[in-house]
Amino acid sequence: ASTAEAFRVVPNASPASAEERATVLADLKFGVNFTDHMARISWTADDGWTDRRVEAYGPLPLDPAASVLHYAGEIFEGLKAYRWADGTIRTFRPEENAKRFQRSAHRMALPELPVEDFLAAIRAYVAVDGDWTPTAPDSSLYLRPFLIATDVFLGLRQPKKAEFLVIGSPSGPYFSGGVKPVSIWVEQDYHRAGPGGTGAAKCGGNYAASLLPQMEAYARGYDQVLYLDAKTDTVLEELGGMNVFVVLKDGTVVTPVLTGNLLEGVTRSSIIQLLSDDDLKVVERPITIDELRQGVASGDVAEVFACGTAAVVTPVGRMGAKDFEQQVGDGTPGAVTMKVRQTLTDIQYGHAEDTYGWME
Ligand code: COI
Repeated sequence: ASTAEAFRVVPNASPASAEERATVLADLKFGVNFTDHMARISWTADDGWTDRRVEAYGPLPLDPAASVLHYAGEIFEGLKAYRWADGTIRTFRPEENAKRFQRSAHRMALPELPVEDFLAAIRAYVAVDGDWTPTAPDSSLYLRPFLIATDVFLGLRQPKKAEFLVIGSPSGPYFSGGVKPVSIWVEQDYHRAGPGGTGAAKCGGNYAASLLPQMEAYARGYDQVLYLDAKTDTVLEELGGMNVFVVLKDGTVVTPVLTGNLLEGVTRSSIIQLLSDDDLKVVERPITIDELRQGVASGDVAEVFACGTAAVVTPVGRMGAKDFEQQVGDGTPGAVTMKVRQTLTDIQYGHAEDTYGWME
């Protein structure tokens, strides 16, 4: 097992000046600016994981034949570091990300990074660049661990070389303009994942493939796309980069059951726990598009929200599909949505006691 101390630090020779950093922290965007360093571990099939280091953030020299550039051998994670009022910097359930990273690696035939290395890389990175963690409300240092296959070989085979990196971006909210409801297009022409496919893996290709449907949804006037299962084209799965929850009028909360085709969101599972402990009935089960359409139209569906590390908890105010266009509830953020958002973020930002032991 490695520890953060096992990471050697090769300091950036020309880090951002105090003014440059202050400028970034004064005008936070999502995922635009990056810190001075990145954590890194190299892997080869012969030597395993080697050379744990924190080094200057910068371009990666890649051979044009590197297999990631051709066959998309890539997985990633998203988690946030929060600055608490006592000055400490905390991450939310990083071990869950580490374990999912292993599952994603397995599916993509990439090497599985030990959980302790994943956690130690984050600790080592935050120890060096934690000063970039913003303090503004709803801001965080968004951490992006990722793994790429770097074999210089055009044959299609399990990679023998890979690089693991952690970069960080001082960020404001993913959706700019505060908590305002988004609109979703229920997609019936494209699918995100199919049975036996990569839907549960956090691999870049899933997200690349979501962009054309996303652009078409924008053109129709919608913010996000909600995908249905590929087998029956009727059951809700997830949005392009977020899970989805439906709050019924009777107070029951439903969310698509994990079928292997959708991402096992860390925010998703935390929300299930928080709602259950708030005495709400939470049911993971198949939800059909017809049930959702009829429920939204009749008012039996009171609220819909999306969730994810980046999106946190985002209300859905309007839904559309072929032959269907409907406001959800009164179109404004619902009470259950906003309460669970508050409960979650209070834990993350240290405004409430972390009774679950989720913060590291
Ligand atoms: C996250 O929520 O952290 C993700 O990785 C999703 C991405 C589309 C921003």
